[in-house]
Order: sequence, then structure tokens, then C-alpha cells
Amino acid sequence: MTADISTKILNVKLANPTILASGIIGVSGAACCYAAKNGAGAVIPKSIGPKEREGHNNPILVEFKGGFLNAVGLPNAGIDNSLGEIEFAMKNAGVPVIPSIFGGTKEEFGMVAEKMATLKPQMIEVNLSCPNTASDLGEAFALSETAAAEVIRIVKDKTKIPVIAKLAPNVPSIKKIAKAVEEAGADAISAVNTMPGMVIDVKTAKPVLHNKQGGVSGHAIKPVAVNCIYDIYETVKIPIIGIGGVTTGEDAVEMIMAGAVAVEIGTAIYYRGIDVFRKVSDEIKLFMEENGYSSIKLMVGKAHK
Ligand SMILES: Cc1cc2nc3c(=O)[nH]c(=O)nc-3n(C[C@H](O)[C@H](O)[C@H](O)COP(=O)(O)O)c2cc1C
Repeated sequence: MTADISTKILNVKLANPTILASGIIGVSGAACCYAAKNGAGAVIPKSIGPKEREGHNNPILVEFKGGFLNAVGLPNAGIDNSLGEIEFAMKNAGVPVIPSIFGGTKEEFGMVAEKMATLKPQMIEVNLSCPNTASDLGEAFALSETAAAEVIRIVKDKTKIPVIAKLAPNVPSIKKIAKAVEEAGADAISAVNTMPGMVIDVKTAKPVLHNKQGGVSGHAIKPVAVNCIYDIYETVKIPIIGIGGVTTGEDAVEMIMAGAVAVEIGTAIYYRGIDVFRKVSDEIKLFMEENGYSSIKLMVGKAHK
């Protein structure tokens, strides 16, 4: 039996279910094309905000036993200076390019979405894991049902492009957040962003990252991500994209069985190289052929049945 590893997110067909996750290498259009050339079924460039941002000082990334901790601080050139790079990727990647946007207020999300929509991408991912500068606590939008839903509502108002709401794992009930963004009009959900974490150098007794705290990615968050996807699948009808620690084909299959139609891959590029997309796709295909699955669809949500 030959397994078909193509998949669909809404009406967009992907030759395989692996997607470059936002922020890992996709800062430029050329980097997105590089991931596509190495087997990514779609690519998500680094999140773009309303204006140019420098990000945090070094060190911004540290490896620990279970993965990586980063506090990059969303450096980007701002929407007006970034449209050219996204357009370059859209023209040259040969696979769907899904721009990622963020803002400090819901109005900023709306403005960035409106400008991004002029490029007519097939979908936009909304990074809700950035601080809400309009709230006293400055908490991420992804941590509040109301704030997350307000952002999705304004992005949907400003564009006709299908919207993927990217959720955070560190919430008391991911089901409530998922339901809130679905009701606000999200067309799909991607889960999850990084999980808050910290690494301290015991010799100097100081946090390793300049920003002190950061976000955990890689192996350590995979069970957390699978758990979130499982819960979201039970709660909403819109498609789910799984993210968090996918390193091998079996990791991807696990997320698909929890309910994802595709997976994003970030940190695994550090472990397995840029062709991790091709490697993971080959491993998914092999798994399917050895276990009697002819299509991805047959595995989606299988762990619930
Ligand atoms: C260095 C670094 C930068 C990131 N930048 C972004 C970003 O700009 N926007 C975003 O939505 N997620 C960003 N993320 C989160 C990833 O897209 C992904 O959700 C997370 O790393 C978990 O997936 P992984 O374990 O496959 O890396 C970043 C992660 C890392 C490690």
C-alpha cells in the first residue's frame, strides 16, 4: 500500500503535513524558501508587528536537556517594511506561505492584518502569545478568553482571509480559550506556542537569558502540546494544527492522532537540520505504510475513537 501524506487545512492542500513554525528561521523570504526547498509543506514566516522592534539583548537562546529556552522578544522590521519579504516568499516558496502577525493592542492586530491582507495570503496565523500593552498586567492575549476573542474578532472584521488563532499552553482551560476564539470567528487553531520557563546558571547564580525568563520549546513541551490538541479537538469543530516538540514522524503522527490535521516544526531544525521536514514526512509515510493507514485523514483524531 502507498500512503498519501497530503493534507488539507480549510481549502488549502499541502503536499505533506509539515509546516515551518514561526520565528525559528523564517525571518526573511529567502529563509522561508529554504525550508520549502527542504520539504516543508507550508511555511510560516517570523511574526510581524505594527512597527520595527529590536527584540531582547543576548543571550536570547539556551539549550537544556529537554529542549531550548528563548526570549527573542519578537524582533521584526514592522509591517510596512516586511510586506516585500512576505511577497518574495509567496512568489518563490512554491508552497503555501502563512504570514504570522502580532500587536500590542487589538487595534494594532487589526491594522497589521489589514495591511497583510493586501498580499492576499491563503491564511494568516495570529500570534496571541504577545503582551497586551493595554492591560495593567501586560499579560499575553492568549491567556484571556476575552482578550483572545477580541483580537480574533477585529482581525476577522478587517480581512476576508481565513484566520488561524495560535494559542498558548499555560492556561487553566485551553478548552475555554479554544471555544472563545472559535465563537469569535477563527477558522482554525494552532497549538501551542512556547511554555514559560527559566534556566539559572548555578555557578554565577544568575538566569542565563538576558531577559531572565523565556519560552520553552522542543521535546519538553510535546506532551503538553498533545494534551492541548486532544482537549481542543473535543471542544471545537474547526481544524487544528499541532506544534511543540515535533522532531520525528512518530511525534507528528501522535499529534495527528490527538486531532491535528498538520504539524508545525521549529526547534527540531536545531537537532536534525533544515531537511527535518523531508525526514519527518518520510517517517510519517513509512509509519502509515507499516501500520495500514492510506491517508492522513484516517489518523486525524484516532486517539479519541
Ligand atoms: C527562537 C524562537 C523564536 C520564536 N518566534 C516566534 C514568533 O515570532 N512567533 C510565533 O508565533 N512563535 C514563535 N516561536 C514559537 C514557535 O513557533 C513554536 O510555537 C514553539 O517553538 C514550539 O514548537 P517547537 O517545539 O517545534 O519549536 C518561536 C520559538 C523559538 C524557539
